[in-house]
Amino acid sequence: MSYQNLLLSVKEKIAVVTINRPEKLNALNSDLIDELKKVFTEINKDEKISVVILTGGGEKAFVAGADISELNKLDMISAKAFSEKGQEVFNLIENLNKPVIAAVNGFALGGGCELALSCHIRLASDNAKFGQPEVSLGIIPGYGGTQRLTRLINSGRAMEYILTGDMIDANEAFRIGLVNRVYPREELMTKATEMANKIASKAGNAVRLAVKAVNAVDEVSSKEGQNYEASLFALCCGTEDFKEGTSAFLEKRKPVFKNK
Ligand code: COA
Repeated sequence: MSYQNLLLSVKEKIAVVTINRPEKLNALNSDLIDELKKVFTEINKDEKISVVILTGGGEKAFVAGADISELNKLDMISAKAFSEKGQEVFNLIENLNKPVIAAVNGFALGGGCELALSCHIRLASDNAKFGQPEVSLGIIPGYGGTQRLTRLINSGRAMEYILTGDMIDANEAFRIGLVNRVYPREELMTKATEMANKIASKAGNAVRLAVKAVNAVDEVSSKEGQNYEASLFALCCGTEDFKEGTSAFLEKRKPVFKNK
């Protein structure tokens, strides 16, 4: 499948999706949202892919937000559909059956910050900038940001960033737990690939089920979450990879996982 605004490369179980509209700082227009839906739907089905890295094309931006020239034309009816469509795609990413690492290589503003929030792990370059500047445009975040940011960094901080629209740099984003790690710009993709390879070397079913278990925290009570965890733990123990992983440890050798 070919894309106008995205690049997809797959190498040794790792897919790299690059949002490639650098002349507009990778702003998400409707075509891009459609293509993100297509590419992540394909990746979800592709058993050769174990981990995904999502990044931005060019030197300046991960994604500088929803495309403001499209936002400008919305009315109340079309805005609801616009928001729900973006939410659907970001939910697809969050619920993908393989981990997605955001390699945030510059501005991650508005919908760009929300896109990073829908990924499972966020790595940032030292020039990255994060923010939810929607109030400056007369709107609020509409791609899940009010919910995901609040859950990730706590409601007081999320409220501050959403109400002021202030941008923060990568180090501040790290300090408040918005990103997992910060690297020099030129090292970001190498570090993201190293992490992706490390995850891809583990038992695939365990990784997949771990993502599901952690994601469930936003959906259910702690008691239900623990029941769900126990069920997924039990599922893991029915896999060949569980036998291999535990046996390899006891036999003091490296495991060879078959993803079965
Ligand atoms: N939507 C549409 N176009 C955008 C965009 C967006 N969210 N963000 C940047 N662009 C476009 C600019 O209009 C400009 O296009 P042009 O060259 O045709 O005029 C191009 O990308 C480069 O951006 P520019 O503003 O010239 O770069 P800069 O380095 O001076 O500033 C930003 C960078 C990110 C601070 C600035 O582009 C910005 O504030 N963008 C909007 C961020 C935002 O509010 N996002 C939330 C949307 S919900």
